[in-house]
Amino acid sequence: MDLTNSTSTTVSSARAAGSAAAPTASSSAPLNLALIVASDREGRFAPVITDWLRSRLAEREDFAVTVVDLAEIDLPTSLSRNPSPAVRAELAKVSPVLAAADAFVVLTPEYNHSFPASLKNLMDWHFTEWQAKPVGFVSYGGISGGLRAVEQLRQVFAELHAVTVRDTVSFHSAWGLFDDEGRHKDPAGAEGAAKVLLDQLAWWALALKEAKSTRPYAA
Ligand SMILES: Cc1cc2nc3c(=O)[nH]c(=O)nc-3n(C[C@H](O)[C@H](O)[C@H](O)COP(=O)(O)O)c2cc1C
Repeated sequence: MDLTNSTSTTVSSARAAGSAAAPTASSSAPLNLALIVASDREGRFAPVITDWLRSRLAEREDFAVTVVDLAEIDLPTSLSRNPSPAVRAELAKVSPVLAAADAFVVLTPEYNHSFPASLKNLMDWHFTEWQAKPVGFVSYGGISGGLRAVEQLRQVFAELHAVTVRDTVSFHSAWGLFDDEGRHKDPAGAEGAAKVLLDQLAWWALALKEAKSTRPYAA
């Protein structure tokens, strides 16, 4: 998949069957979902998981998806209240997407029992953009499937006034689960997990969006 540019895709096909009881934004405008691809590692596995997730999202009509690929954003680790023009240009690629998002999915690998520095850097460069919004996780890695990274992310997102969704999708020893064309070899379990995650994310996104339209979040 081409992750060169952040792409905005309003998914339009029918929702998966059997989801009648799930909260939905389909009766109103789609929810803005920022899909954050955390790995910026050379030779990364991230595009395979990203493609799989986008195919799940393409079956739903309740999210309009924008991909934020951290391999395409070069933010310095030295934070500044007065960034240089070059840094402002990088922020301009991502900050408006985060600000406009009603919900986030963070797609993260696990590095040394935690999440990538690129993701922490993105989180630290922003604050209000995360507030009173839900965050879902799709993780991958070795034996842990990235779950240790996810549990650490819950702590950081709590500090940013974000709400993390309970259920996750995790790929354990991820590289063995997909064929050479990037297709999941046994997709039923992961697809079911994705539906649960995205239904919960949509519920929270809609609930928080409606609440914020009534009264501002008390940060
Ligand atoms: C620096 C580094 C540390 C890693 N640490 C862990 C780890 O603690 N637990 C784990 O399950 N996998 C670990 N892995 C394996 C990665 O999760 C796996 O290689 C994954 O594909 C990385 O995502 P990426 O290829 O999209 O960057 C590590 C990989 C790297 C490069």
